[in-house]
Amino acid sequence: MNVLVVGGAGYIGSHCVRQLLAAGHQPVVLDNLIYGHRAAVAEEVPFYTVNLGNEKEVGKILRKESIELVMHFAACAYVGESVTDPMKYYFNNVAATLHLLRCMMGSGVKKFVFSSTCATYGVPEKMPLVETMPQAPINPYGQTKLDVENALKAFAAAYGLSFAAFRYFNAAGAAEDGSIGEHHHPETHLIPLAIDAATGARPPLQVFGNDYPTPDGTCLRDYVHVDDLSRAHIAVFDYLTTPGAALFYNLGTGTPTSVLAVIRAVEKVTGLTVPYNLAPRRAGDPPALYADSIKAQNELGWLIQYPDITSIVATAWKWHEAHPKGFAK
Ligand SMILES: NC(=O)c1ccc[n+]([C@@H]2O[C@H](COP(=O)([O-])OP(=O)(O)OC[C@H]3O[C@@H](n4cnc5c(N)ncnc54)[C@H](O)[C@@H]3O)[C@@H](O)[C@H]2O)c1
Repeated sequence: MNVLVVGGAGYIGSHCVRQLLAAGHQPVVLDNLIYGHRAAVAEEVPFYTVNLGNEKEVGKILRKESIELVMHFAACAYVGESVTDPMKYYFNNVAATLHLLRCMMGSGVKKFVFSSTCATYGVPEKMPLVETMPQAPINPYGQTKLDVENALKAFAAAYGLSFAAFRYFNAAGAAEDGSIGEHHHPETHLIPLAIDAATGARPPLQVFGNDYPTPDGTCLRDYVHVDDLSRAHIAVFDYLTTPGAALFYNLGTGTPTSVLAVIRAVEKVTGLTVPYNLAPRRAGDPPALYADSIKAQNELGWLIQYPDITSIVATAWKWHEAHPKGFAK
């Protein structure tokens, strides 16, 4: 299938591009490179440096490349920044996505896979999180993703759009061969920060709160390997053939892992010590967030190939050892 990967130069998108190639599909990347890296995508993959909200240019690409399905990874995704600059988030995550969808509808492209987030659930009352639980985001980032989910539902009913919205938990790890991996700027994710703290590339890690009602007092999160995420995106293709299909899936391993457990895994894999300081809790950090992803496993046959934090960290370390400064650009 010819697939337009919007945000395909970013962390998760670039891994998905490789999985699409491996599965025999034809990915085409659209990315304006505000965060992504050209070098994360193989030279032979058609690449368009375009803003996803540019309907004229996106329309041309959809037609020229005979696109049948669009995967949409592009977004601003910094929770704190979304609070201080919500305008940026509503424009890039919601308004631009509406342009993309209008352009798709106008071009007759009616299959869509969307990167949503567990942040749409807000501060949940119960764990693990099931897809049917209430969604009440507590920051503009989560709200913009929920706004898109809601627009998708309406578009499916009205225009026959078929979509899957995947609510990711904490994407982590890197390609098994270490050729591509995580390189955000700024980096806010725990595993790359812990690795950099261990190697001395960054200052000691900040551990925000050790008095949560969790076994070791630090927050519990659900780390899911980026290639496992990518495989779910491809597994859903067969379910998007029915016009108006509206699918929602949590993607996480279901295993809660504490901040201290991640530190221990990084130390085990690297053989280095992760220096860290205890800092106060951050506002809006729930004590625990982990998925029930039985629905994706049962309905899509989604197999989690990296169920434990050590195997995930091992791939991140392999990428880091080969590229200590990340991508050149
Ligand atoms: N990384 C995670 O743990 C995580 C968790 C939950 C949800 N998500 C969601 O998954 C998606 C991918 O996350 P990621 O970590 O790969 O992010 P990323 O920043 O690495 O990748 C996003 C890509 O989108 C591109 N982009 C952004 N705005 C664009 C625009 N207007 N036009 C064209 N390209 C644009 C960026 O240049 C970048 O290459 C995001 O939508 C994010 O909200 C990520």
